Amino acid sequence: MPNTRIRSSAGTYEIRCQRMALIGAARQIARACDSNEVFILSSPRVWRHWGKSVVRAIRPAHGNRVILFDDAEARKDMSNVEAICRALHRAGADRHSVLVAVGGGVVGDVAGFVASSYLRGVSLVHIPSTVVAQVDSSIGGKTGVNLPEGKNLVGAFYPPKLVITDPILLATLPHREFRSGLYEVIKSGVIADARLFAYLEQNMRAVLRRDAAALAWIIPRCIQIKARVVTADERERGLRKILNFGHTLGHALEAVTGYRRFLHGEAIGWGMIAAARIAVASGRLSQSQATRIIRLIMEVGPLPALGRVRAGQLRKIMLGDKKSRAGRIRWVLPIRIGKAQWDVEVPWATVTRVIRRLPQVAKEARA
Ligand code: GLY
Repeated sequence: MPNTRIRSSAGTYEIRCQRMALIGAARQIARACDSNEVFILSSPRVWRHWGKSVVRAIRPAHGNRVILFDDAEARKDMSNVEAICRALHRAGADRHSVLVAVGGGVVGDVAGFVASSYLRGVSLVHIPSTVVAQVDSSIGGKTGVNLPEGKNLVGAFYPPKLVITDPILLATLPHREFRSGLYEVIKSGVIADARLFAYLEQNMRAVLRRDAAALAWIIPRCIQIKARVVTADERERGLRKILNFGHTLGHALEAVTGYRRFLHGEAIGWGMIAAARIAVASGRLSQSQATRIIRLIMEVGPLPALGRVRAGQLRKIMLGDKKSRAGRIRWVLPIRIGKAQWDVEVPWATVTRVIRRLPQVAKEARA
């Protein structure tokens, strides 16, 4: 697996992706950050599985300085940020400190936001431990937390100095969480890589059993897609918006259910089904391509039921989302597998019809 370099406004950083990538981490962090004053931020569950290996690999200069916090999506909030900043201060973290985020998307987003603001910014290194984090959230510098009003409404672009991605860390992921990450992998295929999409169609069983060769094929490929996109458009002025495919409705579903019913990827799974249907209804995508997209999403496994979510509630949240502008919801819609358009406006009546039919669409794809 080749390493990938990303150019960002804060300089170039490397994503080192390989099995056993943790070996040599201490040296790489010291080189990338010009410091070995390491503080580790992680969650109790991740730390239980990987704490010893990480400490052995990182060898923190002044003992084992680890801050653990609850990484449930419902706890990705400002109060967690304050608690971590205060813990860092008590532990003596200064401007030369390096924050190493070991965990999934929530750990990375919260740790990244802390790194961006603690003492006006300290070095950040990601060691992602979930599929979502390895293929998406550790790359590109987005950090932030949720408000009750919506997802990721407070945050900063704050690129890391280094990302160390070791697929071995995926071995201990609960199966639901592993599956949830695969929706982001499918997203990469739909928006940018027809070959990746076809590979997933042919090899989903191997991927679901976490076959090492299959993971070694898909993870670097997703990293390279994301690297290309964020290098071209770090601040999401244009191209980067394609990464929000499935996220317009997905984020609203997470918010309306209090971040409790769906894992992030599962909400995106529903969001991608909706976007594919909207693309068909608005004449942008053929029915047969939409069927392939929906079938692949359903092959990952059952999505949690939508329940009593009403289109009007979702609309209100979508209008408050970062992706909306001047009271208009902007969609990312596929025009064929491997290519998507962003900033698409669609009549609300079309969207409501699609949302109402979503449970039926999912049922038909399973049949
Ligand atoms: N996860 C979407 C982005 O990084 O832009």
